[in-house]
Amino acid sequence: MPKSGPLHHGLLVVGDLVANELHLTRDTDQMVAVPAKLGDEYPAYTTPPALHDVPYNGLAKTPPMGWNDWNQFQSKIDDKTVREVVDTMVVNGMRDAGYVYVNIDDTWEGVRDAQGTLVPNKKFPDMKALVDYVHSKGMKFGIYSSPGPRTCAEYPGSYGHEEQDAKTYASWGIDYLKYDWCGARMIYSNDSIQPLYQKMGDALLKSGRSIVYSLCEYGVGNVETWGAKVGGNLWRTTGDISDNWTSMISNIEKQAHTAPYAGPGHWNDPDMLEIGNGKMTDEEYRTHMSLWALTAAPLIAGNDIRNMTPAIKEILMNHEVIAVDQDALGKQATPVKSGDMETWVKPLADGSVAVGVVNMGASESMATIKASDLGLDAPAKSARNLWTHASVAFHDGVYAAKVPSHGVLMLRVSAAN
Ligand code: GLA
Repeated sequence: MPKSGPLHHGLLVVGDLVANELHLTRDTDQMVAVPAKLGDEYPAYTTPPALHDVPYNGLAKTPPMGWNDWNQFQSKIDDKTVREVVDTMVVNGMRDAGYVYVNIDDTWEGVRDAQGTLVPNKKFPDMKALVDYVHSKGMKFGIYSSPGPRTCAEYPGSYGHEEQDAKTYASWGIDYLKYDWCGARMIYSNDSIQPLYQKMGDALLKSGRSIVYSLCEYGVGNVETWGAKVGGNLWRTTGDISDNWTSMISNIEKQAHTAPYAGPGHWNDPDMLEIGNGKMTDEEYRTHMSLWALTAAPLIAGNDIRNMTPAIKEILMNHEVIAVDQDALGKQATPVKSGDMETWVKPLADGSVAVGVVNMGASESMATIKASDLGLDAPAKSARNLWTHASVAFHDGVYAAKVPSHGVLMLRVSAAN
């Protein structure tokens, strides 16, 4: 009973049903599909472990910085692209600006071998060699998995293989794991999120390698209150970001109540950066960068590093804004609204503060910063505009400047003592 039909990308798949197997030919690939057995898709239920505190792994004293392919590449990521991105980050100064983690997201996974070890798919022919290459460039490598049998993109997850996968990562030299919940929903309810993240937290600690642990469960169940207890170094607090103003602002504003939980070793994560992906203006991308820095968010670039305009490079590599994000005190700013203007203040380790005023409105507006609102313990002595890199002066305790629609005024203000 030969059947054929075009696929959406133009390849022709020809299939035959042979003794209850579907024999398929696509281009030069031959595939045989067999009927699923009970348990193939729904492996036996494993009871989540009892809760305990996972010890801190000593990592991520400041918010992790690096790059992740997902926002730009999704499934179109492979060994060659990662190498090109790494090479570019070395040459263009991003590595030296602090972006050291190179993280591959979903779609690297292949199949498990006879021992149950997960083997990458053909886009990543030799993961260990790729990780070695990244390390040889002075950078670190991150990978992705799920507590479920499948990932969000339907690739194999770590369900039932947590310790084995953690050991595999350690054997490849992996430095960072993003662990993504959605595929676990086929087995578990949200009540099991915490113990299942704990399970991988324990497994990573036992793996023999220091691995940054990034929880990705979209903020469900107040993750900020327990993320550090399961060994997490960072946790997503929102759904997926997209490359537009509304999504970016909504993700960052949802951070407000999580501020008390940020600090060295454990960070709230409003998702990866969209800077340079093309759907916001440079003005909006400057605001995006400023808000992530003011909230001590991880700075994980999500654009095609190989093709960046000078303006995007300047935004991602603004050393003064990065220094605010990476400040050792690790405080997360929260917003104060006044009409269309939203003011975020972040205390810094040297007693100065960073302040950002965002114009949420549709037209240019005046931003007014009062030194007395900044929580300084003495009058403002000096101030610097972190985007123009120029000193600015407070007069009678006030600094005011025009801010374009969706733009930001960002200062670092030092006190007189
Ligand atoms: C989820 C995550 C994203 C990305 C995709 C991959 O949507 O939130 O960041 O990792 O899965 O499938």
